[in-house]
Amino acid sequence: MLAIIMTMRSLFSDHSHYVASFQLFLKNSTEHQCMLEFIHKKLPHLISSISNGKAEINILSVGGGSGEIDLRILARLQSEYPEVIIHNDVIEPNAEQINSYKERVAKTSDLKNIKFTWHKETSLEYECRIMASKEMGKWNFIHMIQMLYYVKDMPATIRFFHSILEPGAKLLIILVSGRSGWAKLWRKYGPRLPLNDLCLYISSADVEEMLDGSGLKYQSYELPSDMDITDCFTEGSKTGELLLDFLTETCNFSKTAPLDLKNEIVEDLKKPEYSERRGDKYFFNNTLSAIMIEY
Ligand SMILES: C[S@@+](CC[C@H](N)C(=O)[O-])C[C@H]1O[C@@H](n2cnc3c(N)ncnc32)[C@H](O)[C@@H]1O
Repeated sequence: MLAIIMTMRSLFSDHSHYVASFQLFLKNSTEHQCMLEFIHKKLPHLISSISNGKAEINILSVGGGSGEIDLRILARLQSEYPEVIIHNDVIEPNAEQINSYKERVAKTSDLKNIKFTWHKETSLEYECRIMASKEMGKWNFIHMIQMLYYVKDMPATIRFFHSILEPGAKLLIILVSGRSGWAKLWRKYGPRLPLNDLCLYISSADVEEMLDGSGLKYQSYELPSDMDITDCFTEGSKTGELLLDFLTETCNFSKTAPLDLKNEIVEDLKKPEYSERRGDKYFFNNTLSAIMIEY
C-alpha cells in the first residue's frame, strides 16, 4: 500500500488559503471592532500634537494592506481637522492589496483634501531607497498596524521609521498583546510549527522590551478582543479547520500535523490561559496592543 506523508507547511506559502482563513478570522473575531473603537475614542487625543495649526500633514502607512483601517483613521482625522490637507503615503509590497486599496478609495466619498501615494515595496526597500536618495521626507504620523511580524529586523525597522518623524510627530504600532492567547501559543508551540522566514512570532512584549532598552518614549494601550473558536472542537468542521490553520499559521493543520501535536493544541485552546468559556462557546484571547512612540 502506498502511504502518502503530508508535511506541515506555512500558511504563508499558499496565498489564497491564507486569505480564506484570514477572512474567517475577521468574521469570527472582534479584531477590527476593537481597532475602530481605539481609532474613534483614543487616537485623536493621542495624536493631537501632530497638526499643531499646520495647513498640511504627512501620514505614512507601513503595510497598509487593502486600506480598510487606513481609511477609518483618515476619516477620523479629517473630522478633527476638516481644513487640513492630508498627504497619505502607503508602503505595501502586495500588488493585490494595493489594487483593493485603490478601489476602496475610488468608492469612498468625502476623501477630498486627502492625497494618496502608493509605494509598492517592503518597508526595507523603502528604507534603502530613501537612505540612498538622501531625501528623507518628514512625517507627522506613521503607523504600522499588524505588520511588524513580517520584517526581518524589528528593532532596526522601528529605529528607521522613528528617525523620519517630525518634531511633535508620533509612531503607532498595533500588534498582538504579550498577554494574548497568541503570544502564549507561539511561545509554547512556535518551535514545533512550520518554520518560515516570512513571519516572526512577535508580540507587544518584544517591542516593549526593545523600546525599554532604546531610550525611546512610548505608551501602551490594551485593546481587548476575542475570537470565537468553538468550531475548532468539532471534528470535521471546515470552519474549525480553517480557524486552526490561522491559529497555527499552518496549511491544512488538522490533516498534516502529527496527532500528538494536534491533540495537545486543541486541548490547550480550551484552557483559560488561551480562551474564555461562555456557555458552550470558547473565545480565544485576541487582545491587541497599541504602542504610541513619541518623536
Ligand atoms: C495583516 S496585514 C495588515 C493590513 C492593515 N495594516 C490592517 O491592519 O488592516 C499586513 C500587511 O503588511 C504587508 N507586508 C508584509 N510584509 C511587509 C513588509 N516587509 N513591509 C511592509 N508591508 C508588509 C502585507 O502585504 C499586508 O498587507
